[in-house]
Amino acid sequence: MSDIENLKRQILAAVAQAKDEAALERLRVAALGKKGSVSELLKSLGTMSLEERKVQGPLINGLRDEIGETIAARKRALEDVALEARLITERVDITLPAPEFPRGMIHPISQVEGEVTAILADLGFTVAQGPDVESDDYNFTKLNMPPEHPARQMHDTFYMKAQKDGSRPVLRTHTSPVQVRTMLGRKPPFRIIAPGRSYRCDSDATHSPMFHQIEGLVIDEETHLGHLKWVLEEFCSAFFEVPNVGMRFRPSYFPFTEPSMEVDIQCDRSGGQLRLGEGSDWLEIAGAGMVHPNVLKMCGLDPARYQGFAFGMGLDRIAMLKYGIPDLRPFFESDLRWLHHYGFAALDIPSLEGGLSR
Ligand code: DAH
Repeated sequence: MSDIENLKRQILAAVAQAKDEAALERLRVAALGKKGSVSELLKSLGTMSLEERKVQGPLINGLRDEIGETIAARKRALEDVALEARLITERVDITLPAPEFPRGMIHPISQVEGEVTAILADLGFTVAQGPDVESDDYNFTKLNMPPEHPARQMHDTFYMKAQKDGSRPVLRTHTSPVQVRTMLGRKPPFRIIAPGRSYRCDSDATHSPMFHQIEGLVIDEETHLGHLKWVLEEFCSAFFEVPNVGMRFRPSYFPFTEPSMEVDIQCDRSGGQLRLGEGSDWLEIAGAGMVHPNVLKMCGLDPARYQGFAFGMGLDRIAMLKYGIPDLRPFFESDLRWLHHYGFAALDIPSLEGGLSR
C-alpha cells in the first residue's frame, strides 16, 4: 500500500472515532493545518520532478479534499448529536406548578410609568412617543431655544456626529420634543402625555446620565392656566395617594412656556421623615406653563386661535419620593437584590379601579 493510502486510512479511522468537536478540530489541524501531515505532502510537490508531480499531484490534492469533506461531515454529525443531547436535557415540564413566589419583579420606573399613565389616561390623555436620538431643531430650536440661547447650556447635552448638512443630532435632553412632534403631526385639539428616556451628561446620587421624564401637552382653543392647575392637583393627589394635597405654583422661566412656573407639593420633613400632603414645607415636583406663542408658530399652529399648557416631571424623582428610595444610581445597576426590595409584583398592574400601588 502506498504511503498516501496509508496516511488516508489512518486519518479517516481517527476522524470516525473522534468523540467531540474539540477532538475533531485537533485532527483537522494535525492533517490540514499549516504544519499538518497532508499540508507537508502538498509542500513536497514543489521538490518533485514534473513527471512525478503529474502522478502525485492529483493523488495528494484528492487526499486533501477527501479528508476535508470527511471532517466536515463528521462535524455536522457531532453537532446534531450535541443538539439532540441539549434538547433532551433542557426540556421544561410546563405542567409543573408555578413557584409559590414569582421571581420576576416590575421595576419601580415601569410601575410609576404605569401609575402615571393610568391617572392621566383617566383624565383623557393619550400616550405619544418620540425617538431618543432627536434633532437639534426639535430638542431646542422649535422649543424657542435658537442656537446660542443661554438655556441650551443648562442641558449638558450629548451630541452625536455631525450629519452631511452640518446639523448635529442629540440624545434628547428632555421629553419636550414630543410636544413638537405632536403639534407638527396632528390637528388640535389634543391631550397627550409622553413618558420616556432623557439624557444629560450628569451623574451623582440624584442625577443619572440616562433618566426618565414625562411630558404633558394640551392644545385647544380655550385651555387656560386654571385647567393646568386642576390637572396637576388631580394628578398629585391620585399619584401620591393623599386627598387634597396642598400645592404651590411659583413663577419661573422656561423658554417654551409663557407664563412658566415650578410646581411644589406640600410636605412635612420633621423627624427626618418625608411625609407628602401634610406639614408646612414644600417639595418641587414639576415644571409647567402655557405653551409659548413662538412654539405654536414654529410648530405650524396659529397662536391667535390655539393655546394650551405643558408640563414636565422627572419619573425617577417621583418614584423616589413616593416609594422612599434614597439614591437614583441603583435604579440602573440591575442588582437583583435591589429589585427584589423595591420592585413590584409582576401581575399587579396599576389601575384606578384595582389600586395604583399595593
Ligand atoms: N423640559 C423641562 C426640563 O427638562 C421640563 C418642563 C418644564 C417641561 C416646563 C414642560 C414645561 O413641558 O412646561 O427641564
